[in-house]
Amino acid sequence: MQEDLERVLFDEATILHRLDELAAEISADYRNRDLTVIAILNGSIIFMADLLRRIPLPLKLDCLSVASYHGGTVTTGEIVFRQLALPDVHGRHILILDDILDSGVTLAAIREKLTAEQPRSVKICVLLRKVKGRLRPVDADYVGFNIGDEFVVGYGLDYLENYRNLPCIGVLRKDRCRSCLTSTDL
Ligand code: IMP
Ligand code: MG
Repeated sequence: MQEDLERVLFDEATILHRLDELAAEISADYRNRDLTVIAILNGSIIFMADLLRRIPLPLKLDCLSVASYHGGTVTTGEIVFRQLALPDVHGRHILILDDILDSGVTLAAIREKLTAEQPRSVKICVLLRKVKGRLRPVDADYVGFNIGDEFVVGYGLDYLENYRNLPCIGVLRKDRCRSCLTSTDL
């Protein structure tokens, strides 16, 4: 798998070191609050598992499964919520966890949907944030790493459902991307 990468951006040790810092920041901010973490499947699974074990606070965990449809490696803007019922977030402090903030379409839709359930607060934590213009006005409150506008895989991030189990994060080689990508799970 690693041979399909053009280059490694963050190796496992670098990612875990950064998670120590992020977890300390989040733990300080949510001390004595009713925290509910909403992890967005599938992309945030590995990030969630490593991050949450570094947060020594009582918290609730729920997951949302969302599909975004892509043309090539670009989001088209269509978001489908797979659950019939949303997690019960009324009156709670919500922290949404996702793998990557790209166009912003997905996180804006998720934030809108959860906000309608009247939580006490909503914040967003992403492992990666692409430094680029967004289609929707959304930003993350906690960011693992800023990256350029390149297609990356590994540590939960996929290309056609592959590479999620790579322990590092890297830029996929162009000759490994098929030109027409129809849909991916988050
Ligand atoms: P957005 O709606 O454009 O912000 O895209 C969000 C989703 O697209 C993420 O949760 C990922 O599943 C996927 N995505 C965006 N950029 C990348 C990438 O570079 N690698 C893998 N998945 C990506
Ligand atoms: Mg994906």
